[in-house]
Amino acid sequence: MTECTVTLRPATPEDVDLVFAWANDPVTRAASFRAAPIDYEAHVAWFARALASEGRHLFVALRGARPVAFVRLERSEDRPSTLVVSLNVAPEARGEGVGVAALRAADDEARALSATTILALIREENEASRRTFARAGYVDCGSCEVEGSAARRFERSLR
Ligand SMILES: CC(C)(COP(=O)(O)OP(=O)(O)OC[C@H]1O[C@@H](n2cnc3c(N)ncnc32)[C@H](O)[C@@H]1OP(=O)(O)O)[C@@H](O)C(=O)NCCC(=O)NCCS
Repeated sequence: MTECTVTLRPATPEDVDLVFAWANDPVTRAASFRAAPIDYEAHVAWFARALASEGRHLFVALRGARPVAFVRLERSEDRPSTLVVSLNVAPEARGEGVGVAALRAADDEARALSATTILALIREENEASRRTFARAGYVDCGSCEVEGSAARRFERSLR
């Protein structure tokens, strides 16, 4: 696979439309546990709430100066030392190593947030995502169900 370097910067209110466009990409919707298209007004409200929330940390991954992915780290309610990660690579930047590079960069952010574990919940059939998380050092910890869909828990230990 191509070597790729990205940096993460905190998301800002100006990223709202970029994140919306990436989130409404059909492949992204199919990979999500809520597959319906996202309504713009609902997204704007969600994004503002997420930026203001203490437990959520939103990042835009940059390749050079170009935004190429959105990463969210969210504090787990039942396990405060765990962050739940969500990753969406810009449709035009997929398959170039961005996903793996963004997850590696997210490790540092998670450590800075004093997390010991990062958890990803991945739809069973999302082969690309399973490979990406495995390549970034996550371990497949078995199957589970999320919002009625078969999923897998992938965990990354930061200890
Ligand atoms: C899944 C996703 C994050 C992968 O990111 P990416 O930048 O395209 O992946 P990378 O280029 O870093 O590739 C990582 C691995 O995944 C594999 N991969 C990438 N796209 C693939 C595809 N469409 N089908 C199968 N494998 C794929 C690569 O071959 C590589 O594995 P390898 O090193 O064993 O060859 C990205 O495609 C995406 O954002 N998809 C839509 C949203 C999504 O599924 N998010 C994750 C939800 S849990």
